[in-house]
Amino acid sequence: MEQEIIAKGAYNPKIVRRLAAYAVPHRSIIVFAFLAMLISTITELLQPVVLQRAIDSYILAGGEGAAAGIVRSCLIFIGLLLGGMLFAFLETYLISLAGQKVMKDLRVSLFRHIIGRSLAFIAEHPSGRLVTRITNDVETINELFSEVLTSLFKDLFIMGGVVITLFFLDARLAFITALSLPPVLVCTLIFRVRAREAFRKVRHWVSQANSFFAEHIAGVKIIQLFTQETRTAQVYEDVNQNLTKSNLGEMYVFATFRPIIDFLGSLSLGIILYFGALRNLNAGLSLGTFVAFINLIRKFYQPVMDIAEKYTILQSALVGAERIFQMMDDGRCIPDTGKDVLEKPVRGAVSFQNVEFAYKAGEPVLRGISFTVNPGETLAIVGSTGAGKTTIASLLTRLWDIDSGSITLDGKDIRGLPLSQLRGAVQPIQQEVTLFSQSIRENITLGLEIPEERLVRAARLAQAHDFISALPQGYDTMLQEGAVNLSSGQRQLLSFARILAHNPRVLILDEATSSIDTETEKLVQKAMKTVLEGRTSIVIAHRLSTVRSASRILVLSEGRIIEEGSHEELLAKGGMYHALYNLQMQS
Ligand SMILES: Nc1ncnc2c1ncn2[C@@H]1O[C@H](COP(=O)(O)OP(=O)(O)OP(=O)(O)O)[C@@H](O)[C@H]1O
Ligand SMILES: [Mg+2]
Repeated sequence: MEQEIIAKGAYNPKIVRRLAAYAVPHRSIIVFAFLAMLISTITELLQPVVLQRAIDSYILAGGEGAAAGIVRSCLIFIGLLLGGMLFAFLETYLISLAGQKVMKDLRVSLFRHIIGRSLAFIAEHPSGRLVTRITNDVETINELFSEVLTSLFKDLFIMGGVVITLFFLDARLAFITALSLPPVLVCTLIFRVRAREAFRKVRHWVSQANSFFAEHIAGVKIIQLFTQETRTAQVYEDVNQNLTKSNLGEMYVFATFRPIIDFLGSLSLGIILYFGALRNLNAGLSLGTFVAFINLIRKFYQPVMDIAEKYTILQSALVGAERIFQMMDDGRCIPDTGKDVLEKPVRGAVSFQNVEFAYKAGEPVLRGISFTVNPGETLAIVGSTGAGKTTIASLLTRLWDIDSGSITLDGKDIRGLPLSQLRGAVQPIQQEVTLFSQSIRENITLGLEIPEERLVRAARLAQAHDFISALPQGYDTMLQEGAVNLSSGQRQLLSFARILAHNPRVLILDEATSSIDTETEKLVQKAMKTVLEGRTSIVIAHRLSTVRSASRILVLSEGRIIEEGSHEELLAKGGMYHALYNLQMQS
């Protein structure tokens, strides 16, 4: 997709307009930046003119008042230099300010957009790519502001200003100078095409190298366990070889462009020198004008190079913007339009009727699932891996929406309820505990404001209080990314504490499959009992002890309910449950 965008070329008025909309809130800063740019450019253009006056009217003319005139010219020249510096600073500062603000707005709105999307969207955008959008792509847009926007106008302005000043000083000489322009234009156009191609290659390999790096650092454990370090490094080296090659290719384009433009600049200086000197001899041209010309032509060629080079920045910014906007245009989400209200207190009656669901169209995962859970009842779901157990939990909390059938809570279709109500009433303890790199306290409350004693009570009931208090900072202990500083049993206890603190009416417990030591296992069992007490619970069970405590058991196989009943009934039936049971008894 990235390749397509680049191949199409950068300029797309729609993208520019959308990007401009982000600049609009900061327009006053941008206007001031432009004013500062204008003033600093004018001071720059005036310098050669002052020089010309000083030479022609005072230095060469001599006579009375020449000394005073020279001093005055010097003072004006210094004043122009200082003023130029001050306004150049203001310009850089203001435009960076605007760039930073736009960048912040973009990052925040992109993040807000992404966290509101449905899991189908998230699944299609690997986290590495999302990170690239929010860092690299946003950064290129910042560069557009800080490097391109004002300086591009400044360069154009200087070029225009130089041409006008030249004609103002001496029209004939200016015309001769202008003859060197066509070759400059041709060179610039060739450069543009070649720079775009080189840029496309660099971009491609940068992105390859980045994703390779991110993916393999994230999976470093596996690489080490399978002793694949050397091979992986070799592949990375190959990718980097290509990146280096494409970078050098880009450098080559730039390296040839600069000297050529330099040469053309010097050539036109030579022409001026030749004609100017000739005419100077014939007394047709003043020395002051001659010096001013040389000065101005220098000023003309610098922007030519700048503009051509900044074109690549402009291009990468527009590509970055297009990719960001493409993501922002993908509005897939779980619709939160329900207006129904749950009667308080929530009873917690759950019913699935003929529920069909597929993650990908044509590959059904659940087929005709129907069951009910009465308020306060514990229902267990068992089945082999991939049977669709976790999927049932995701549907009840509307992480995904069903394709057909209905799911109700207290008799109300869950799609008719506001998401906040549904998710306040039904909460899962997930198979893989998700903890953030924040304090233990924040991980339990997750933004919920509760008094300290309720927090501690929840942790106590979850059997987590003891290990938390044993940590040096207690509840304020910071977890590392992925909570690697906790054991997997402790992570499970924390997730119980989290649920007890939030106190949902309906609980879905997706039991962790990872085995934990017997000591922690006992704690987990005890905590689980407390967690289930007095709630409607759906337990996706892997342990026999959990299954046996349920009043009813569903056996799921390939997305269908194939058996249903109590532990004893199902054993007596001698079906799949019986087989699963025997399997576990043996191990
Ligand atoms: N996000 C997803 N996108 C696409 N397919 C998925 C997704 N999650 C699960 N599946 C598929 O749906 C099927 C059911 O998965 P599910 O996670 O519900 O199984 P499970 O019964 O919970 O298994 P386990 O006991 O291993 O946890 C599997 O075939 C799986 O490949
Ligand atoms: Mg599962």
